[in-house]
Amino acid sequence: MSSVHIQNITKSFGKVEVLKDVSLNIPDGEFVSLVGPSGCGKSTLLRIIAGLEQQSSGQIRIDDRVIDNVRPSERNISMVFQSYALYPHLSVFDNISVPLRMSRLNSIQRLPGLRHLLPGARAVEKGIRADVEQVASLLDMKQLLDRKPGELSGGQRQRVAVGRAIVREPHAFLLDEPLSNLDAKLRVHMRTEIAQLHRRLGATFIYVTHDQAEAMTMSDRIAVLMDGELVQVGSPDDVYNEPQDIRVAEFIGSPRINTFAGEIRSDGGVDLLGVPTGLVTDAEAGPAQVGLRPEALRLVPVGEGVFAGTVTHIENLGAELMVHFVNENMERPAIIRLDHIERHRLDVGESIEIDFLPGAVRLFGPDGARVPTEEFMEKQLVNA
Ligand SMILES: Nc1ncnc2c1ncn2[C@@H]1O[C@H](COP(=O)(O)OP(=O)(O)O)[C@@H](O)[C@H]1O
Ligand SMILES: [Mg+2]
Repeated sequence: MSSVHIQNITKSFGKVEVLKDVSLNIPDGEFVSLVGPSGCGKSTLLRIIAGLEQQSSGQIRIDDRVIDNVRPSERNISMVFQSYALYPHLSVFDNISVPLRMSRLNSIQRLPGLRHLLPGARAVEKGIRADVEQVASLLDMKQLLDRKPGELSGGQRQRVAVGRAIVREPHAFLLDEPLSNLDAKLRVHMRTEIAQLHRRLGATFIYVTHDQAEAMTMSDRIAVLMDGELVQVGSPDDVYNEPQDIRVAEFIGSPRINTFAGEIRSDGGVDLLGVPTGLVTDAEAGPAQVGLRPEALRLVPVGEGVFAGTVTHIENLGAELMVHFVNENMERPAIIRLDHIERHRLDVGESIEIDFLPGAVRLFGPDGARVPTEEFMEKQLVNA
């Protein structure tokens, strides 16, 4: 297995710059997700790594080897696509063995009639059978080897595509939205399977998805791509808790982070909807956006809240409750996440009061970049 180094990659299609100076070092054995909205350039970047697309500038290395002029088939990288791309007329066994036959047999030995007759080919076939069976048992699909893709469920087909990718023990796996054709329940199940497979193989995985929940649940690190730019790279906790850009804050996490109109006063104090938050900043005075995740908001008794609202909708998810509310200063409803113990208190139309811990506030400037803040009390103590 190998490390993958993406260095200053740009890509333009005609006049459209699709990737803008993307750099990312992926250590050996890491599971990294490239996540971002549709059209942000994820597949293009993956295809450049695989050699299916040529970058406009920049370099791709595997370990110490520059591979920009190496043909896709010689990069020793396996790719799993959303469409699986299985051969419909071949059995599962034959589908998985395709990459092994391509690399281990010469073109004469590969002729279907001959590979069982030529002695050299027979020995290679035996090795191929052993390797395919090992992968099949790893993926728990030995009983499927004689079937054709048409006789498999979506999840099973997906597993065959993964099997075909891992059978030749590549330097790295590239997966482009491999779960997006599956139904919701199976998708959640396959997340676990892929994460477990990664642990068992200890291989380098580069996983592309537009689904932030997939990225959050499977990855060692998440690389957030927006409009062709790598906006933030970090652990799932990092991108969730410390987003460095409001686009990252809004993309990661479901339900979405609440954003409120804020203000940095000339004395450095930070207001939310005209109310002091208890935070100060060194940033320039002016308008700002205050981000608070749904679980950062708390319901408090009347008279104790920082601001008030009216309940517009309640989503009951069983174990938790998403309460939507508005007030006259808010442009769109905000969401507060409550655990089920609190549910009996609320009805649509009811007035509520909301509080939060200053430490939960994520402040963003007018350009969307994160603005560092400090709690007012602490600052006073430091200065005293
Ligand atoms: N072969 C191509 N020719 C022209 N434009 C392309 C081509 N491939 C991708 N694009 C454009 O590049 C942008 C990024 O595409 P893509 O990498 O597929 O995004 P993602 O996988 O994040 O959805 C899109 O605007 C897309 O239309
Ligand atoms: Mg794509």
